Amino acid sequence: MSKLIVANWKMYLSPKNSVELFGAVGKKGEVVICPSFAALNQLSTLAKKSGIGLGAQDCFWTNRGAYTGEISPVDLKEIGCEYVIVGHSERRGYFQETDEMVGKKVKAALATGLIPILCVGENEFERKKGKAATHVVEQLKKTLTGLGKLRAGQEIIIAYEPVWAIGTGKACDPETAVEMHQLIKEKVAELIGVKNVRVLYGGSVNDKNIASYLEYAEIDGALVGGASTKKDIFASLLSIASKF
Ligand code: PGA
Repeated sequence: MSKLIVANWKMYLSPKNSVELFGAVGKKGEVVICPSFAALNQLSTLAKKSGIGLGAQDCFWTNRGAYTGEISPVDLKEIGCEYVIVGHSERRGYFQETDEMVGKKVKAALATGLIPILCVGENEFERKKGKAATHVVEQLKKTLTGLGKLRAGQEIIIAYEPVWAIGTGKACDPETAVEMHQLIKEKVAELIGVKNVRVLYGGSVNDKNIASYLEYAEIDGALVGGASTKKDIFASLLSIASKF
């Protein structure tokens, strides 16, 4: 299977800038772009034409109701999204999203036919205390328990994103990432019966270090934030990734 690059544009780009960057990048390998909500509609036509996947950065756990400001998974599907990031550490940190909430979002996304990209990862304190593995296993248990086995055609992707590596320039060394990916694959198989789930590494990935991750079979791709919003760096990263 080819390596998957997911670009998380966070709140960095305006809709106008998103359309410009999308147009400039072009499809190389398997790519999914997750722009801000405000840019999704405009990018959806472009995404269909180019073969680039489109994803949202979050969704709510219910399709309809009095939930001011929330985004319904079915609406994302209707405007052409195929993927949705859930449980990103910025959502967990700034908006107090718990594993229980994230679990409900995973369920809702799957029920709607979206592919959830579930983010997990330890913080610096947990890593230093030797508790990274326990923390990530706990996150997986709490978010995936109760999901049951996935039905045919349903898919889930996990992103291993150590919080200390996100946006800091301190990327996790590939060997440590591989250990965590192996652990995640084992746990996901145990919890929801998905064998060899796709696991992406995320946290300060750029065009200089992408190859050092993708050379490992356990690393199925990358979730790229900051570096994916800079045209030349992103283009060079995609071109390297497409060779794996
Ligand atoms: P970064 O972000 O690549 O800027 O570290 C990754 C992410 O938050 O998904």
